[in-house]
Amino acid sequence: GGFLPFGHEPYFDFTQPDVADLQRAAFQRVRRKYVGQRFPLYISGERVEGGDTFEVRNPADTRETVWHFPEATVQQLEDAITAAKTAFEDWRFSDPLQRATIFKRAGELLRARRMEFNAVMTLENGKNWPEADGEVAESVDHFEVFARETLRWAAGEPVYPMPDEHVTTVYEPIGVVACISPWNFPSAIPLGMALGAIAAGNTVIWKPASETPLSSLLMVELLYQAGLPRGVIQFLTGTDDVLGDPLVDHRDIRMVAFTGSREIGCRIFERAAKVQPGQKWLKRVMAEMGGKDPTVVCADADLEAAALGIVQSTFGYAGQKCSACSRVIAEESIYDRLLEMVTKLATEIKVGLPEENAPLGPVISASSAERIMKYVESGKKTARLVLGGEPAELGDCEGGYVQPTIFADVTSTDPLFQEEIFGPVLAFSKARDWQHAIELANDSDYGLTAAFYSRDPYKLAEARKLMQVGNLYLNRKCTGALSGTHAFGGYGMSGTNAKVGGPDYLFWFLQTKTIAQRY
Ligand code: SER
Repeated sequence: GGFLPFGHEPYFDFTQPDVADLQRAAFQRVRRKYVGQRFPLYISGERVEGGDTFEVRNPADTRETVWHFPEATVQQLEDAITAAKTAFEDWRFSDPLQRATIFKRAGELLRARRMEFNAVMTLENGKNWPEADGEVAESVDHFEVFARETLRWAAGEPVYPMPDEHVTTVYEPIGVVACISPWNFPSAIPLGMALGAIAAGNTVIWKPASETPLSSLLMVELLYQAGLPRGVIQFLTGTDDVLGDPLVDHRDIRMVAFTGSREIGCRIFERAAKVQPGQKWLKRVMAEMGGKDPTVVCADADLEAAALGIVQSTFGYAGQKCSACSRVIAEESIYDRLLEMVTKLATEIKVGLPEENAPLGPVISASSAERIMKYVESGKKTARLVLGGEPAELGDCEGGYVQPTIFADVTSTDPLFQEEIFGPVLAFSKARDWQHAIELANDSDYGLTAAFYSRDPYKLAEARKLMQVGNLYLNRKCTGALSGTHAFGGYGMSGTNAKVGGPDYLFWFLQTKTIAQRY
């Protein structure tokens, strides 16, 4: 047996009219099938109605309610954690080959429905087609990668031998894992965390962001369909009152896997440190948080490649990625030219509807747009605005649209340089030389991704050593990590540096047992 050689799932080419037609048809299908529906929770694999329900709005036009989800009650949280504990008693002894086979099958099922998943995501979080497609393709990759990782970790590790003992080191699951995920990658991020937990033999409380629950629910149902014993995942949606602190604090939770804001990540880290009455372990926390990701451009760089990479990584999905470029740090001698090139490319980015595959769509909500505009307004006083700087109007659509915005001559103490804005806003800063540029790049609480452009092998070697980030990209853009290849996770306040899609990831969800036997 064994696996075929690994290959990343290829993206759809939407410039082909027949491919674009299929994606358009998928939107129609998804609208017929899901819009207006009420969806359930899943506890022990049973569909459960919640107490109240909440509405999910289309960020492209928030007057449209796309679907409804339940608000789990306190009792349902209890039931879900009990169900996950019960399921753990079987699942922890499940055959790793069974787990891998389920993942492989789920990957096949997803492959056949990618355009449907793309459309659901667009309606929930406003991604345009290639952005949604990139994420769904990444989810297919996750299934493949985690299938392989399951088997690799199941083999254990060899130890230095003893003459009179047989000694093995094996990895065992830890328990119930709460997976709490953000709206910006509603399919690949919760899936990565949940597959990490499940691959290791743990059971899961899956809590998606309230903005984007259907992308998650469909993934859970796909796993059921692929043969996952249904109690392995409990799917809960609802309010922070029930699913925030009470979930994290619960004594039966063994680990919290979180991706989202720095504020919430720090809160979880702190709360999970407290040992609750009756709790028999120290909780583990994986917290993957924000970024303030720089692109360094040296004077000798290919400026056209750099400008393109900057524009794609800054304005893709309106800058709402933890990996997004939000600072350009360029050497003095090419600063003006690069600024001009980037501005010219950014000027061509049209704001429009994600469902019609516009290059720049809405940010997730009106309040998010307001927060972004506060940074922009204060930036107008501290830096030089060269592009945008206003909300964008889109017919009578009610959505948070913001023009592509570029500020020049931003100093390193400016909030534009230090704080994560999570919008289509770019800060340009001037460096005396390339060493100074590296210093400026590292002048951040965060350390998630960075791009570095140069043709000089010495500078590239120095960047490899000195850049304080978890994902460093030389001569390419800083977004679009591929599962299995670009293990993803940062330094500093970007989080715990759990590298999803990488060779160490499963270790986070396991404990290590050493067994020595004499005969
Ligand atoms: N993994 C995504 C990227 O690399 C961000 O979460 O862009």
